[in-house]
Amino acid sequence: MTTARATFDKLLAAAHEWYMALPAMQEFADWPDDLTWAGRPPVPQSVIAHLTKDPGTANDTSRSLRDALLATAPFAEWRLTYTEDEVGCDFLKRFGWFELAGPTGHFHSQQIRMTVGYWGPGLDYGRHQHEPEELYTIVSGAGEFRLDGAETLTLGPGGTRFHPSEQPHALSTSDKPLLVFVLWRGDGLAADPRMTA
Ligand SMILES: [Fe+2]
Repeated sequence: MTTARATFDKLLAAAHEWYMALPAMQEFADWPDDLTWAGRPPVPQSVIAHLTKDPGTANDTSRSLRDALLATAPFAEWRLTYTEDEVGCDFLKRFGWFELAGPTGHFHSQQIRMTVGYWGPGLDYGRHQHEPEELYTIVSGAGEFRLDGAETLTLGPGGTRFHPSEQPHALSTSDKPLLVFVLWRGDGLAADPRMTA
């Protein structure tokens, strides 16, 4: 078994423990029963150095998932999605996400999409949207979550935020970084989020 595969197996096990610890995740979706290893190649980005240096404070429940994510970072297929025109140069250097499981994930699933995202301190992720419904869970650090038509929430480890289909939302970090584990359900799982026009 390759190091990458063993590391991702540990991450998937830690993600399942996280899922079992958070009722909001269990209510959002069943744990997928169609997971198969997809063997996607690593795509390193500068976000790895920032995540490694400043992963943010976890709590007792999220620490094992945070540490499994740190171990996986060098092997992950990191994506940036946005252009410099949309989010700026600094954002693209200190942000990144990868798909642990889903239609184009390290583990293939058609039932759900599980992604991991990181933002360094002092970043603003402007209003964006997507068809699938979404549940953010905060693994470490903190962020301010804004959603059209709902109250703004500042969330730390163990916090969750639900985003309805195509409802624009945004987030920002202040003095701490933010590491999140995100679930998507519903139609359009393979599409990327897009900035709200
Ligand atoms: Fe979203």
